[in-house]
Amino acid sequence: MIRTPRVDSYLQTVRPSADPLLREMEAFAAERSIPIADPETAALVAMLARSIGGPVLEVGLAIGYTALQAARALSGQGQVVSLESDPAMVSAAAGFLGRDEAGRRVTIVQGDARETMADQAGPFGIVFVDADKTGFPIYVDLARRRLRPGGMIVIDNLLMDGAGADVVGTPHWSQASVDAGRALSRRLAEDPGLQFVLLPVGDGVGLAQPV
Ligand SMILES: C[S@@+](CC[C@H](N)C(=O)[O-])C[C@H]1O[C@@H](n2cnc3c(N)ncnc32)[C@H](O)[C@@H]1O
Repeated sequence: MIRTPRVDSYLQTVRPSADPLLREMEAFAAERSIPIADPETAALVAMLARSIGGPVLEVGLAIGYTALQAARALSGQGQVVSLESDPAMVSAAAGFLGRDEAGRRVTIVQGDARETMADQAGPFGIVFVDADKTGFPIYVDLARRRLRPGGMIVIDNLLMDGAGADVVGTPHWSQASVDAGRALSRRLAEDPGLQFVLLPVGDGVGLAQPV
């Protein structure tokens, strides 16, 4: 964890309460150890989507927790496209998203994002990168070519429970994931064509915006 238990308990007291569908999704994920985004990360993606506008491309849908919040934040008929390789996740997400008016504006693309992302022409206002960590450099490079002016890439888990700072992998975060996350953060920070910030929010959220 990148926050202290004391800070974490405090954060819970200033977190707006989720509506019944989001609470059900949180419980579903917790019971099955499905790695959905932290509430603050999902809220950040939604707020950025509301400010920058859509469409939103998500790489790694899981059960649709952030996709639903991004779709709700987009005005009018704003679209979210989400890429997911695991059929069980696709099925669970389709069930949850189908129960919500905004959720029905999420288009799920099943398959390996390394292949399916190439078919998503965009341009997108936000690309939220949240699938396998070793694929992050590929997704970020593809995302960059799919952003519209003023758009932003949001990358989750760049701190990996602190393993990103400790340099060593853990039983949960492989050494390959840690190495990929660190190399990507360094590369984005040194890129003169981007403004990059790594926020200690959730599990470490990187924001990268072409300048
Ligand atoms: C951390 S979860 C996504 C959480 C979700 N973005 C949210 O905010 O709740 C990562 C998801 O990426 C999916 N995934 C992993 N590798 C993938 C790949 N190569 N292509 C598409 N999806 C992938 C996993 O099946 C998993 O559901």
